[in-house]
Amino acid sequence: MSKITIAIDGFSSTGKSTVAKQLAKKLGYVYVDTGAMYRAITLYAMEKGLISEEKFHKNELIQHLPEIVLEFKFNDKKGFSEIYLNGKNVENKIRSMAVSNLVSKVAEVSEVRKKLVEQQQKIGENKGVVMDGRDIGTVVFPDAELKLFMTASAETRAERRYKELINSNNNVTFEEVLKNVKFRDHLDSTRDDSPLIMADDAIKIDNSNMTQEEQFDKILNLALQKINH
Ligand code: DC
Repeated sequence: MSKITIAIDGFSSTGKSTVAKQLAKKLGYVYVDTGAMYRAITLYAMEKGLISEEKFHKNELIQHLPEIVLEFKFNDKKGFSEIYLNGKNVENKIRSMAVSNLVSKVAEVSEVRKKLVEQQQKIGENKGVVMDGRDIGTVVFPDAELKLFMTASAETRAERRYKELINSNNNVTFEEVLKNVKFRDHLDSTRDDSPLIMADDAIKIDNSNMTQEEQFDKILNLALQKINH
């Protein structure tokens, strides 16, 4: 069977990573969560005191970029790859609200994007990948055989994210999460470098009223059509 590249873009908390993970598992493909890479750089900047709600030492972060090593290592128990920042597993730490609130600022920096896009293109050079993010079908793999663009209402997405955060013991309110979702939508779609836009040849999937099973069946069928083409 020929291997293809599957690009999944869309707004935050549209369930991109859940469906991307399922699809990669089913097809025996590598799954790459590119949001985790932007989050890991944000965590690095926070830990070095380069970013907070009040300040952002952008140029210092740019100077530190060569020191930042990101790797994905497969976790057999969980069945997916986890992200390592300079040798440390940061998969849980990067999901905090503190990181979520600052990550869009880091993702705006062109030097950060250039570093990560290069690494993403290298990971996917032999195809057989499912990559999710904001610019995968437009910038990272403009020739991907299958491009999906996921959307859902801000309220539906905030509800999903709120449940995830509460389940992993984060102390947040629904209103805070909704505000963060809307704020990130705005920053992600209005930034100058690689804003979140749907590629012309992407297929739009609005999952506000779809079950996870319905969505997975639909996407698996689309992938199989392309693979068997
Ligand atoms: O998918 P996520 O919520 O974990 O992504 C975190 C942030 O990273 C999000 O605000 C947008 C940014 N991002 C990006 O700019 N480009 C990508 N390919 C992936 C994520």
